[in-house]
Amino acid sequence: MIKKCLFPAAGYGTRFLPATKSMPKEMMPVVNKPLIEYGVEEAIEAGLDGMCLVTGRGKNTLFDHFDKNYELEHQISGTNKEDLLVDIRHLMDTASFTYIRQREMKGLGHAILTGRELIGDNPFAVVLADDLCVNEEGPGVLAQMVALYKQFRCSIVAVQEVPKEDIHKYGVISGEVIKDNIFRVDDMVEKPEPGTEPSNLAIIGRYILTPDIFELIENTEPGKGGEIQITDALLKQAKTGCVLAYKFKGKRFDCGSVDGYIEATNYCYENIYLKDKQKTELGKHSTQKSEEA
Ligand code: UTP
Repeated sequence: MIKKCLFPAAGYGTRFLPATKSMPKEMMPVVNKPLIEYGVEEAIEAGLDGMCLVTGRGKNTLFDHFDKNYELEHQISGTNKEDLLVDIRHLMDTASFTYIRQREMKGLGHAILTGRELIGDNPFAVVLADDLCVNEEGPGVLAQMVALYKQFRCSIVAVQEVPKEDIHKYGVISGEVIKDNIFRVDDMVEKPEPGTEPSNLAIIGRYILTPDIFELIENTEPGKGGEIQITDALLKQAKTGCVLAYKFKGKRFDCGSVDGYIEATNYCYENIYLKDKQKTELGKHSTQKSEEA
């Protein structure tokens, strides 16, 4: 059973400077909720309850966000503003939060290895919170992947078709189709040079990993950009065992980039925030009516 979710959140977020100079990228709000909270919600929806955050220097607001704020809560106690804290309180009651610091930013692979102590010897999920995923038609992306894991019991990466001009920004897979939207990975390249990409299927920030990945990362030399790349460790796993790539159902926004962040904000405002607000107001209205009757 997968119970833990690792959130590597130690990166510098340089694409979003100056906003990320002193604020973690994962705390940037999409409408009224920080990115990390969307990630935690998705993990809880997938049935996970151990949230393990890999943080770095200057990321203390991440700890604070999943903790009580007595002064604020006292201040708004008994007012209608308390409603605004219902969701986050639910997350805090449902899940446990543990943290570890990555002291040197040596890449995503290294961040995942840093989380080993929190994860232990079990399969686990990884969410990069700056990739915001939504699926209004059904289960969230992580829930889809957990269901797939139950069937195949191996590492799974979420992939998305990406236009040719953008593919060099991603880890890219190639593989054999084994079922609708599921590929058995036979190659994987991190940020391929234009024209050398093995396909148009880019890895996005959702993974299910089996724990043997830790040893593979330990034995992985720095790769592209001098960083320890999870893609390189996963390729070894694919060659010696099995890694699946899953073309997920839903939308994904790259909130680490300004354009993706704005797109996510507009989408979430119209399709989630306003709809939820309407539902709440309708609910209040009908309660009021039944009380009057
Ligand atoms: P990114 O490369 O997208 O994030 O890493 P970044 O480095 O923060 O952003 P830019 O490119 O400078 O704008 C993918 C994920 O891996 C985490 C990041 O926090 C992000 O969630 N990461 C990356 C770490 O936790 N540690 C690292 O050493 C590198």
